[in-house]
Amino acid sequence: MKILFVCLGNICRSPMAEGIMRERATKKGFDWKFDSAGTSAWHIGEKPDQRGINVCKRYDIDISSHRARQFQMQDFNEFDLIFAMDKSNFSNLRSLTNNTQYRDKIKLFSNYIDQENNKDIPDPYYDGKFQNVFEMIDKVSETFIEKINLNK
Ligand code: 4NP
Repeated sequence: MKILFVCLGNICRSPMAEGIMRERATKKGFDWKFDSAGTSAWHIGEKPDQRGINVCKRYDIDISSHRARQFQMQDFNEFDLIFAMDKSNFSNLRSLTNNTQYRDKIKLFSNYIDQENNKDIPDPYYDGKFQNVFEMIDKVSETFIEKINLNK
């Protein structure tokens, strides 16, 4: 399975989600491919935000080698699941295509734990709440992997 995480800048939430889910999935023996991207072009080529790198490091997850990139149309074809970190990422992604097969791949990440609750993973860029973002992502990741395990 190939999973893409998408946020606005691809320097805070989505590289954290990519790293956390990779760690959790690999521990459970799943051989999946992960990547992350931003809907904006603002931070292309940059490392993840140092505050996110630091929080992940505390949990032995190293996200420092990621470099930000912008979401591309070919990602709709390349990935099986496209996780939007918040509702604006979700609607930005949907507005890129009318193809229903592609649109069905886009999911609001938090809905894997709070079905239909439409909760955002909040942008920590200005408020600095990276620990909170880590915990939210970790909880959703764990639930996602549990559900996959049950359906195996
Ligand atoms: P991200 O956070 O979407 O989680 O990577 C942001 C990073 C940068 C900006 C906004 C959100 N920015 O305004 O530059």
